[in-house]
This record gives sequence, C-alpha cells and structure tokens, in this order.
Amino acid sequence: MPDTVLSQFTQSYTEEKQASSKKLKIGIIGCGWIAEAHIESYLEMDDVEIVGAADLIPGKAEAFMKRYGVEGVRFYPSHKELIDNEQLDGVSICTYNTQHAAPTIYALKHGVNVLLEKPFTVTLDEAIEVMKAEKESGKVLSIGFQPRGDLNMQMIKKIVESGALGKVYYIQTGGGRRRGIPNSTFIEKDTAGIGALGDIGCYSLDMVLNAIGYPKPLTVSGYKSAYFGQNPEYATADRFHTAEENARRFSVDDFAAAFVRLEGDIILDFRISWAMHMNTPGDTIILGTKAGLRIPSTDCWNGSVGGEMTLYHDLAGVRMEEKIPILKDNSGHGLFYKKIRGFLDAIINGTPAPVPSSQIVINQAIIDGICKSAELGREIEITIPEV
Ligand SMILES: NC(=O)c1ccc[n+]([C@@H]2O[C@H](COP(=O)([O-])OP(=O)(O)OC[C@H]3O[C@@H](n4cnc5c(N)ncnc54)[C@H](O)[C@@H]3O)[C@@H](O)[C@H]2O)c1
Repeated sequence: MPDTVLSQFTQSYTEEKQASSKKLKIGIIGCGWIAEAHIESYLEMDDVEIVGAADLIPGKAEAFMKRYGVEGVRFYPSHKELIDNEQLDGVSICTYNTQHAAPTIYALKHGVNVLLEKPFTVTLDEAIEVMKAEKESGKVLSIGFQPRGDLNMQMIKKIVESGALGKVYYIQTGGGRRRGIPNSTFIEKDTAGIGALGDIGCYSLDMVLNAIGYPKPLTVSGYKSAYFGQNPEYATADRFHTAEENARRFSVDDFAAAFVRLEGDIILDFRISWAMHMNTPGDTIILGTKAGLRIPSTDCWNGSVGGEMTLYHDLAGVRMEEKIPILKDNSGHGLFYKKIRGFLDAIINGTPAPVPSSQIVINQAIIDGICKSAELGREIEITIPEV
C-alpha cells in the first residue's frame, strides 16, 4: 500500500484518538452544599475540565473552587453569564428548587447538556416548559436521582419486572424523620418552593414508580402541613438564624400525605415527613397478586434501601417469607460518581439521559397534584400535557 494512503489512515486514526480524548468542558451553577458532591466526582474523572462556575452570592463560587484546589476556572454572578461566556459541553445545575427551571431552560436553549439536581422543578408547569426546551434542543437532560445507581434499588425493579409479584395493585411508600428539618434555603417558599415533598418525597416516589415503569397518575387527594417547621419549639437554629427566625421563615410543607390513583388500577398511598410525633411513617410495601414486597423504612431514600427486604408469597399452600440480602457494590464508585458518569456517557455516546424527564415529569405531576389538592381540600384529576 502506498505510503500516502497509509498516512491518511494514520492521520484519521490520530484525529479520532484526539477527539475521543478531548475533555468535556463542564460548568457548575450553584456552589452550595450539593455542588460539593458534584465537584468531588468530576475531579475523579480524567475526561472532564471544570471551566466555569456561577453563584448569585458574590465570592461563593471562587471560595468553593479554592476549597477544592481547582485552578483556571472563570467565575460568574449567575447562570446566564456562565452560559453566555463559556463553550460548555455540560452543566451541573445545583441551585435551590425555585432556580431549577430557568437555568435549565437557558442552558438547553444555548445547546448545553444539563444534569439537574432533584426535584425536577417546583411545579408541573415549569417541568413542561423545561421539557419543551429539551425537545427543541435535542440535548441531554438528566435529573439527579443518584439512588438509580444503587444495586438494592435496582433489585426492587428487577423483582417487579421478574413477575414474582404478579400484578401490582397497591403501594404504600414514603418515609421521613421524627425530627429533621434541614433549614437553610430548604424552608422558604422563595427558594425551595416545596418542603419535605421536594426534598425527600420525590425519592420515595421515584423508588416505587421507577420499579413499576412510571404509570401515569389519574387522580390525587393530597394533604400537607407545617405544624413543626412553623413552631419555634420544634424549629432549630442554624449558622445564620435563631430557631424563632427559622420558624418565621418556614413557608413550605414539613409533612405531606396522598392517595394517588395510577393507570393500570394501581393505588399509591404516600406519606413523607421532616418532623412528626412518630418514629417512622411506615415501611414501603408493594402488593401484587402473587407476592408482596416489604422494603424497610428510612429517613430518606437518597441512597439505598432501609435494610433487608422481605418477599411474602405462598408456596404449595405454605406462607413463605424470604429475606433478600443487601447487595454490596464493589465497583469502587459512589452513587454521585455513577450519576455524573451516566450523564457524561450519554453526552459522549449520544445515548438517552440515564434519568429522563419523560419519567420524572410523572413524579413532578404527583407532587404538583398533592400541593393543588391540599390547597383545594379535595381530590383532583391530574393531566400531564404532551410535549
Ligand atoms: N441529590 C441529592 O442527594 C441532593 C442532596 C441535597 C440537595 N439536593 C438538591 O440540590 C439543590 C441545591 O441544594 P443545596 O443544599 O446545595 O442548596 P444551597 O442553598 O446550599 O445552594 C444553592 C446555591 O445556588 C445558588 N444559586 C441559586 N440560583 C442561582 C442561579 N440562577 N445562578 C447561580 N447560582 C444560583 C445559591 O446562591 C446557592 O449558593 C436543591 O434543589 C436540592 O433539592 C440534592
């Protein structure tokens, strides 16, 4: 083969290699608490370059990057300047809930792939606007539900999909804490929009809805209250506010419950708590025509299951109880690493988002429905607009 032809192959092979070893340019929007988990994972990855960071609070992004010893990063006062001035492959949006929709829409409209922290948004309307921007952009939008990477969470879905439960007809889920209101930007309507519902409720909903294939919700009768957050006896102080101040600031839910009808004749019985006079609002149970699954309760489903699960079924007329051992992850990577890696691999390979908006919009519609139903004091129908 003539050398000229061979050198063409060599050249294109080298270009391909260079292209595949190109670092992804990443920005971080919102440099608060959860951004720490994002940067720690990004810093473990060889194919990532953090190029910019934004925070509304002057000096916060700079201090954040300094803490992690990340150099050569440019800093911006909000998501807009960051997106306008950097050629980004992707952004982590780590802002508080009421600032999820606007930066995500802005990033997508400017051709940037987005990893958005949970909950998706505050309202269903916002989620739909985000999905419209996602559709027009053709970019990756993945929502930050790291428990999707947990082997035990995956086991719940595998059990349902194996058919071992038969037809699923009833689910009780939720969880939460006797005391555990997070304060900070989580308790004001202006920043959080929703309380326990958005902070931890979205996780328990994702755990069971993902397992059963995210059927659409039809109706919801919802309830929410704030008896603990607004009471100075139960409110707690933080670095910036006394307990009395936090009780006055508290303008979201600290407890919510709902009865949701899902497509496929499935009932979802849900409750979530940041504070209550009870140790637990109960285990998660999934009832099917062939077997039932019990998943021990936890304060928050943001990682793994609360303990060994139990499968209840009959065998040759004998009532059986089988323990499902906790699976250990030997991958050497944490859930945040996996969530971020999944997002980046979707960008690189042009594959669908690991946690797609088409699923999480259903989670959001239920949360939105609970809020609306609670405000009206009656059951309502849930309609999710087509995007
Ligand atoms: N996946 C998880 O396990 C997990 C855990 C905790 C929090 N979260 C989610 O992460 C989000 C942030 O939580 P947090 O505890 O880090 O909050 P935080 O208040 O500590 O940080 C949010 C930061 O975003 C900044 N910000 C807001 N709007 C902005 C904008 N438009 N441009 C630039 N900066 C902006 C704020 O100034 C603030 O510094 C919340 O939605 C929360 O639900 C997820």
